[in-house]
Amino acid sequence: MDIKIAPSILSADFSKLKEEVASVVEAGANMIHVDVMDGHFVPNITIGVPVVESLAKAMAGDPPLVGASVPLDVHLMIENPEKYVESFADALASGRELSQDYIVVHAEACGASGGGGLGSVQALIQCLKLIKSRGIRAGFSVKPGTSLEQYERVLPLADMVLIMTVEPGFGGQKFMEDMMPKVKWLREKLDASRQVAGQVAGQVAGQGAGQVAGQGAGQVAGQGAGALNYEIEVDGGINAETAKVAREAGANVLVAGSYIFKSGDRKKAIQSLR
Ligand code: DX5
Ligand code: ZN
Repeated sequence: MDIKIAPSILSADFSKLKEEVASVVEAGANMIHVDVMDGHFVPNITIGVPVVESLAKAMAGDPPLVGASVPLDVHLMIENPEKYVESFADALASGRELSQDYIVVHAEACGASGGGGLGSVQALIQCLKLIKSRGIRAGFSVKPGTSLEQYERVLPLADMVLIMTVEPGFGGQKFMEDMMPKVKWLREKLDASRQVAGQVAGQVAGQGAGQVAGQGAGQVAGQGAGALNYEIEVDGGINAETAKVAREAGANVLVAGSYIFKSGDRKKAIQSLR
């Protein structure tokens, strides 16, 4: 499986963020994970729209940063993210090709103020649609205590599903291995969906062109509606040992903050996660 590494800038030296990002891109990062915290959804405050805008501009600048095309993976740990999606989308748009970037919201946080503290499935769906309407890949995340099954019908809309393997809020915490059943569940659903898609494609290819236009097309349209195509991301406590556990469970995007940024050899650290 193709494993993507997403260093979290939460553990970077913010006084030289551009150089820090360049350093991990040169060391082999596949995307840059940006942790946005509001002090409400999580008990910590980090960065917001202006920093994302500066970063996007720096990456796309003249001359562009090495790895200017590396996607930004914006992890919104904020209440009512739907209120801020447009601002983050504008920030990402600062000279970049938007379609490569991700905005990931917390399922628990969407529509939070209108839902008695807990986001609704419907609010999450609306939020993902809003992100996509801005030409940005959309993802959702669940905290360790949140079950994933209740969001099954959201999966066809997701480009990324992020399983938190620590309580969100801080870097440097211990990996929660008991989150791996969520990762396996996502992997099984994805593999099953791809198998069906493969079978349908095979059927269509095996039939005559005329037939394809009739029943084949209908079949594809019908089955395609529920097709899944998301990245499975884990975040929190990733190092060489826990990365192996997460990969074996089926994760293909690994976020790592302290492990990469505090390492003396970032290239080696990234390689050890694949
Ligand atoms: C935690 C953040 C993580 C954090 C990971 O709430 O979402 O992205 O930076 O840090 P490490 O890899 O140090 O656990
Ligand atoms: Zn994160």
